[in-house]
Amino acid sequence: MYSAKMPKGFLWGGAVAAHQLEGAWNEDGKGMSVADVMTVGTATKPREITNGIIPGKNYPNHDAIDFYHHYKEDIKLMAEMGFKAFRTSIAWTRIFPNGDDKKPNEAGLKFYDNLFDTCHQYGIEPIITLSHFEIPFHLVKKYGGFTNRKLIDYFVRFATVCFKRYKNKVKYWITFNEIDNQSAYNNDFLMATNSGILFKKGMTDKEKEAAMYQAGHYELVASALAVKIGHKINPNFQIGCMINYSPVRPLTPSSDDVLLADKFEQRRDWFSDVHVFGKYPNAVEAYIERNGYRPDITDEDRIVLQEGTVDYVAFSYYQTTTVSSKKVKPDDLTDLSKAVTKNPTLKRSDWGWEIDPEGLRIALNQLTDRYHKPLFIVENGLGAYDKVEADGSIHDDYRIDYLKKHISEMEKAVELDGVNLMGYLPWGPIDLVSAGTGQMDKRYGFIYVDKNDAGKGTLKRSRKDSFYWYKKVIASNGKKLD
Ligand code: BG6
Repeated sequence: MYSAKMPKGFLWGGAVAAHQLEGAWNEDGKGMSVADVMTVGTATKPREITNGIIPGKNYPNHDAIDFYHHYKEDIKLMAEMGFKAFRTSIAWTRIFPNGDDKKPNEAGLKFYDNLFDTCHQYGIEPIITLSHFEIPFHLVKKYGGFTNRKLIDYFVRFATVCFKRYKNKVKYWITFNEIDNQSAYNNDFLMATNSGILFKKGMTDKEKEAAMYQAGHYELVASALAVKIGHKINPNFQIGCMINYSPVRPLTPSSDDVLLADKFEQRRDWFSDVHVFGKYPNAVEAYIERNGYRPDITDEDRIVLQEGTVDYVAFSYYQTTTVSSKKVKPDDLTDLSKAVTKNPTLKRSDWGWEIDPEGLRIALNQLTDRYHKPLFIVENGLGAYDKVEADGSIHDDYRIDYLKKHISEMEKAVELDGVNLMGYLPWGPIDLVSAGTGQMDKRYGFIYVDKNDAGKGTLKRSRKDSFYWYKKVIASNGKKLD
């Protein structure tokens, strides 16, 4: 196992999102977010997005792990592991319950004051995402989410209030979580959680894709405006974008597969290209034009995009993507998910996610070569079933093995390849509700939470074997991986 000493000040820690752990979904004036109308699913059955709350259905985000009332205990446990940084999001609906409210909700703002103060008490740096799959449901219903230009103003208002309020407590910001995770627009779930689009019945693929480009554009403009305003409020702010980065591989060396992989990559990279370079890549402009989508992109928008470029590129890494031109030829590539195929060389998690540690090194190199910006790994990890032994211990050696291999590849990228990396924040340091399936039993944590998919449990927190392991990794600044 390769292990290197990481740079001084490297931000070791973990990452979560408000809606996946806070619970208290309607307390202290919080409004309903899109996550509050999503039911529980399974590894094979997708979550449902309901039109409002339907009595009798299980909405796991309503209570989640009740971090809202347990945050002091939870941050203390993270401090015990030696965390230097903790990534979470600000639930938009705690601050603006409907999204279009004139004034913010003071009780919501106060909660995050307390949370950030608690982090600082332990020397933990908060890394804050503004929009992490928790857009106010009212904005979805009334305006059609980010397909509506008005959403730019509502997001910017939310961002400005947060920047001003926490300007001395938060230095590192992320505007949108995994903004690129809607390019496979046929997945209704991702469109709803990400940009707040609920597709109407009978919409064609072309109409869906056109809506995705429009929403994506408005989100990018909203992000750029937020970056500009944030830097004015506090010039020391570091404001980044966040993508789900999954290096794309051709299944075979055939030119069609290789070209398809390129086309796939260009379309996913569109989001981060705009965030970093402030302009649309040629291939995407040409694609939009060729398909006659004509989204509303003004000259003023283009100036804003250039003025609001990001300071760093944050990304999640879970797996690589392999594509095959058997079903779709490069020039016919529309819905990206149709090109994806299994990589026969890789093992998979119980949820079918391919395990590819070297892919993380590849990701770090590709992103460095493309953007020449500091990078930040703000999600990585293994969702797995854990077993609690009779004495309460949890032997999650599979999780340790997964993380160890990924950290080792990350360290090669830093030491051997010269990648400029700010930190490593594995996903879900404490068990939480899965975004994809709504399950509690798909666990990522070093800290176990006694709650299951049916919503039953005492919420008691306990330390898994990985807790003690990760503590050693942090204490040795990444040197001791075994
Ligand atoms: C990322 C999201 O896509 O993956 C997180 O930013 C999410 O919100 C994580 O939880 C893991 O996915 P899942 O479906 O296992 O929760």
